[in-house]
Amino acid sequence: MKLIGPFKQVVTLANLPLRGKLSDEQIEIIVDGGILVDENKIHAIGNFDTLKSENQNIEIETIEGEQIVLPAFVDSHTHICFGGNRANDFAMRNAGKTYLEIAESGGGIWSSVQHTRNASEEELLKTLLERIEFLISLGITTIEVKSGYGLDVENELKMLRMIKKAQEKTQATLVPTCLSAHLKPRDFEGSNEEYLQYILNEILPKVKEENLAKRVDIFIEKSAFQPEESKVFLLKTKELGFEITVHADQFTAGSSRIAVEVGAKSADHLEATIDEDIEFLAQSETVATALPGASLGLGEKFTPARKLLDAGAIVAIASDWNPGSAPMGNLITQASILATFEKLTTAEVLAGMTFRSAFALGLEDRGRLEPNFKADFVTYKTNNFQNVLYNQGSLKAENVYINGVNI
Ligand code: NIG
Ligand code: FE
Repeated sequence: MKLIGPFKQVVTLANLPLRGKLSDEQIEIIVDGGILVDENKIHAIGNFDTLKSENQNIEIETIEGEQIVLPAFVDSHTHICFGGNRANDFAMRNAGKTYLEIAESGGGIWSSVQHTRNASEEELLKTLLERIEFLISLGITTIEVKSGYGLDVENELKMLRMIKKAQEKTQATLVPTCLSAHLKPRDFEGSNEEYLQYILNEILPKVKEENLAKRVDIFIEKSAFQPEESKVFLLKTKELGFEITVHADQFTAGSSRIAVEVGAKSADHLEATIDEDIEFLAQSETVATALPGASLGLGEKFTPARKLLDAGAIVAIASDWNPGSAPMGNLITQASILATFEKLTTAEVLAGMTFRSAFALGLEDRGRLEPNFKADFVTYKTNNFQNVLYNQGSLKAENVYINGVNI
């Protein structure tokens, strides 16, 4: 056992409900607190001096200066395994070019597919690990990572194998997701339905065999997969034993309904979700995930997080870090900005990046500082936890702990 502290504030997020709106008064703050860690888990949280006197002869890891501590963050939606770069897409979009013009000049998802296919395994692994390091430096210790830039058996497996390899090399928890249904690749001869069948017949059995992912994602949108064919596909993946998450309602409403109907763990994006579907989501266990990084990358509106929370939905916030629509990767900055535009409380934002996003990944052992929870936490050199969002990402994490170890 090891006692870590003292901290000016321990922000536990204990006892906050899984769904709906939160006020900042609900946040539990332990002043002059400490965290008692046993192996990789939290054993106890409380006043530092009390914990110290109650536990004689244990190791003490002293925190220097004034620091606060929060549960480490969970980024439940990323596409950080990719080759190439789409800075030109970004510049063209800002110069007023349309989606079609960008695609025609060699940009769009298809360009990332070509770069990812051409990248060697070493290159893919190296850049993936660099992005993971960046996320860890922000205090993010659980990271979902999607495939979806391979779009054929060989390359989807290559991506998922590199994600698995990366897991062997990082302390962070990686949660891989198979997004072969990102787009029908240009070189696939056949219909959308035939491509989805190809995923079911050729890709998913191998994903299972090699234990590369337990989750499946799909992009339901006019330019990608249509609602009905997607629903049929998702129900089949469910029969194969996969958990489901959906890229839903990004530009067109309707697909979040499908996510709920198939029992998806989360419906992500939701920028275009209509009021009726907000209610539908709020009645469900499907987490509504806001992706402010995509709104900022594309110059589009934000997910209606305020309405979703008021309706009682489980709202998570994730980065969507990808080379096209969300190139920033800084979840803390993005969530702070979402808060100002959507009028979210500090409690709602912190919950959205911790235990609520962990729930979206089926990881209910993290995201709060409570006994028996995974000892992942992040400290900042400040005396007030509100400064984390107030500084909009420019207050850097001081120490990041994974399994009770300062990494
Ligand atoms: O989540 N919306 C679809 N997929 C990604 C974008 C991928 C890309 O542009 O490369 C997203 O925003
Ligand atoms: Fe995405």
